[in-house]
Amino acid sequence: MNEKHLKETISFIRSKTKSNPKTGIVLGSGLGDYAENLEIDIAIETSSIPHYPVSTIEGHKGKLIFGRLNDKQILAFQGRVHYYETGNLNTILYPIQVTHKLGVKNIILTNAAGGVNRHFHPGDLMLMKDHINLTFENPITLIGKPKQTKGYVYDPKLISLIIKIADDMKVPLREGIYVGVKGPSYETASEVEMVRRIGGDAVGMSTVNEASFASALGMRVAGISCITNYATGVTNAKLAHAEVTEVANKVKHRFSSLISSILLAIEK
Ligand code: HPA
Repeated sequence: MNEKHLKETISFIRSKTKSNPKTGIVLGSGLGDYAENLEIDIAIETSSIPHYPVSTIEGHKGKLIFGRLNDKQILAFQGRVHYYETGNLNTILYPIQVTHKLGVKNIILTNAAGGVNRHFHPGDLMLMKDHINLTFENPITLIGKPKQTKGYVYDPKLISLIIKIADDMKVPLREGIYVGVKGPSYETASEVEMVRRIGGDAVGMSTVNEASFASALGMRVAGISCITNYATGVTNAKLAHAEVTEVANKVKHRFSSLISSILLAIEK
């Protein structure tokens, strides 16, 4: 981690806004439109921020948005850089480091994922109860000296809160284990079978390293996956990125109302 770069990034952001959100949300593939639900104070193009990593993937807008939901300050990340884009952990953890420095205490990470659990269908939302990191990276190594983590990544209180909110709203919410892989290609059918056998319910190419890192930095972390497709081999259908964004678009309404209720309910 380059502290000098981080300082320059933060002072640039601070020159644009004095906002102090305590809650942040990272919007995954095709889910960036959620930001339209916020009253936007300022949207900063990530390409204009010094040292900030820029995504090259379609469906990832690359904006850092300071906004409000019923007067509650929220920091939203539209678009994220994937590990497979650079092969460099520092790049994907940079936004988390920035979030932490800005004083955010709670972070919701969202993503698009393939359904591995045979009961899951495209369009389902899944609360991440836990994850399995198959990127074979460990972001904690970048914090400096090895750090004792909390024994969990996804905050148990946030998990209970989100289950209760979904229940009260009658929004169907699956619960499961997200398996994070490197990508960029989709898995083979045999890899998906392996993911299922080791206990995975969904598979995707993001979130796991960011989540562990944020948790180790002391933030409360929650994760929500949008199941955009059956993972390879679950059906005979072929996978395409267009399908991922199309399904994410279809669940937009349900996703948005759930996310807004969660953001509003989260304590400081
Ligand atoms: N595999 C990995 N990542 C994904 C998938 C998938 O099937 N769908 C959306 N992101």
